[in-house]
Amino acid sequence: MAFKVAFLASLLLLAAAKPMGRRAMAIHESRAAPARGFVKSGVAPAAKELTLRIALKQKNIAGLETALYQVSDPASALYGQHLTAEEVAAFVAPTEDTLAAVSAWLAENELSAKPVTPAGDMLEITLPVAQANELLSTDFAVFTHVESGATSIRTLEYSVPVALKEHIEFFHPTTSFTRPLTPKFKAVRPVPEKTVADAAPVAGAVPASCATVITPACLQALYNIPTTPATQSSNKLGVSGFILQWANKLDLQSFLSNFRKDMPSTTSFALQTLDGGVNTQTRSQAGIEANLDIQYTVGLATSVPITFISVGEDGSDGLDGFMDIITTLINESAATRPSVLTTSYGFDESDLTLPVANTLCNAYMQLGALGTSLIFSSGDGGVSGSQSKSCTTFIPTLPSDCPFVTSVGSTGGINEVGSSFSSGGFSNYFPIPSYQAADVASYLAALGSTNSGKFNRTGRAFPDVAAQGESFEIAFNAQFGLVDGTSCSAPTFAAIVALLNDLLVAAGKAPLGFLNPFLYSAAGRAAFHDVTSGTNPGCSTNGFSAGAGWDPVTGLGTPNFALLKKAVGL
Ligand SMILES: *[C@@H]1O[C@H](CO)[C@@H](O)[C@H](O)[C@H]1NC(C)=O
Ligand SMILES: *[C@@H]1O[C@H](CO)[C@@H](O)[C@H](O)[C@H]1NC(C)=O
Repeated sequence: MAFKVAFLASLLLLAAAKPMGRRAMAIHESRAAPARGFVKSGVAPAAKELTLRIALKQKNIAGLETALYQVSDPASALYGQHLTAEEVAAFVAPTEDTLAAVSAWLAENELSAKPVTPAGDMLEITLPVAQANELLSTDFAVFTHVESGATSIRTLEYSVPVALKEHIEFFHPTTSFTRPLTPKFKAVRPVPEKTVADAAPVAGAVPASCATVITPACLQALYNIPTTPATQSSNKLGVSGFILQWANKLDLQSFLSNFRKDMPSTTSFALQTLDGGVNTQTRSQAGIEANLDIQYTVGLATSVPITFISVGEDGSDGLDGFMDIITTLINESAATRPSVLTTSYGFDESDLTLPVANTLCNAYMQLGALGTSLIFSSGDGGVSGSQSKSCTTFIPTLPSDCPFVTSVGSTGGINEVGSSFSSGGFSNYFPIPSYQAADVASYLAALGSTNSGKFNRTGRAFPDVAAQGESFEIAFNAQFGLVDGTSCSAPTFAAIVALLNDLLVAAGKAPLGFLNPFLYSAAGRAAFHDVTSGTNPGCSTNGFSAGAGWDPVTGLGTPNFALLKKAVGL
C-alpha cells in the first residue's frame, strides 16, 4: 500500500526540519459548557499522559459518497459493485499537503504520530497534559459524569495553528463528552404462565402465544423467515459487543434446545476481539444484551456464520471503541469481513461534537462502500434519546441517525403497533439524504405544526424500518426471561438481511451492502408491512405518531422475507 510508505518518508524528512517560532493559533472547537450531566471537578495533572487522535481532512469524502450511492442504488448501473479497500482508501487518505503540514508542526513540537486507520486519515499521539495544553493553547481539566462518578480529561476549547485549520478536522477526545455506556438491561422479566395453548403449528400462521411472548417461531411466522439452513460459509454476520457484555455459549445452547429444536443445539458463534475484549464464559457473568443479540442472530439466521465482536475497554478512540471496531473491519480482507454488522448500543447525538459525529458517520460510509450492511437499534427513549430522560427538545440518537446506516425501531403485538419506547426523529447534525426526502416531506406535511420547534425539520430522519422488540424470551444465567427494546429489533432485522445475502451469494450475486437506497425504492418498500399506529412519547409530549407511509416511530414498517427475496431479484 503505497500511501503508507509515502507517509513514513514524509515524517522522516520533516523530523529533520528546524523548529520554527510560535505559530499563530486559531480556536478550532469550543463549547460554552460541558455536556449535560458533566461537571468540571479539578485540574488535570500536568504529567498525566493523554492519548489524542488527530482526524485529518480526507482527500475526497464527497467522491466516496457518490461512489457509495452508485453501488447501493438499485437504479444504478454499478449496483452491487462494492468498492475494494484500496479504492476506499484512495478517497479518504489525506493529501500529501495535509500530511506534510501536520507532520511538520508535530515535528517542531518533537512529537511523532502513528496512523491508526488503514488510509492514514487518523493519527494518534501520546503526550503529557502540560505539553497538550501548550500544543493546543488549551487547559485540559478533569470532568465528572455526575450520575456514574466516571471522570475524564476534557476541555471546553482548543486551538490549532491558523495555517493548519483546513487540514485538521479535530483533536479527540477534547470537547466531546460521551457519557459512559451502561448496560440498559438491569434484569430480565419473568415469563408469564401460558394463558393460551398454541394449536399445532400451521404453516404461515402466527401462534397465539406470540401476543405475549416472542420466540424465534413467532418472528419466522410474522416475517416469513425461512428455517432452511444457509449454505454460504463466506457470508458472515457480525454482532457488536461493548462494555464487558459477554455472550454465553451454554445459555445459547438452552435457547436453541428450547426454541430451535430443528437446529443442532451446539450451533455456536466465532469470537473476534479488539481493544482488549474478551468473552468470559462464567454463566453468571453473561450480559443480557450480548445473550439477546447472539440468541436472536444465531437463532434466526439459520447456519449463517456469526461472529461476536467483543470490544474491550483498552481503546483510545474516545468513543468506547465505536471507531475502533469499524477501523478493524475496514482493515480486514473481503473474505473475513462480515456482510452485516448489528449494533444495539448508541449515544445521544449531542454527546458528540459535530466533527466527531461526522467522522464516525463517514467511517460507516467507508464500510458500507466495502459492502457491509450496518444495522443499528434506534434507541429506547422515544423522542427523548437512547434512554428515557427529561428534556425540552427532542434528542436524536447516534449512530442510528447517520445517513449511511440502517436504523431499526420497534413494534409489538401480532397486529403490529409502534412501541412507545421506539426512538425516532430528526438529526441536528446530518441533513436529510435524498433517498428518504420524498417520504419525509409527506410525513412533515401531514404533521403540520405538531411538535413544532422541538425537532429539526431538515435533518436526516430515523428509523428506517422496524421489527418486533417487546417481550422477547431469552436464556440468561441458566433461566428464561423476557426483555424489551430496539435491542431486540436490530438483531432480528440483521438476521433477515444476512439470510438474504446468503441466497444472493449462492446465486452468484453481490451481498446487499448499504441498504437504504434499496429499502426506500419502490421495490424495497413493497416488501414491508406499513405499521400505522403507535406513538413514541418523551420530553413531556406525545412524541410522533405512526401513520400510513414512512414515520419516525416505525420507519417504512416491518419486513417480509418472502417479499424481500423477490425485491432483490431472487
Ligand atoms: C491492519 O491489519 C494489519 C494485519 O492484517 C495490521 O498489521 C495493521 O496494524 C492493521 N492496521 C490497522 C490500522 O488496524
Ligand atoms: C438542522 O439540521 C440542519 C441540517 O443538518 C443543520 O444544518 C442545522 O444546523 C440544524 N439546526 C439546528 C438548530 O440544530
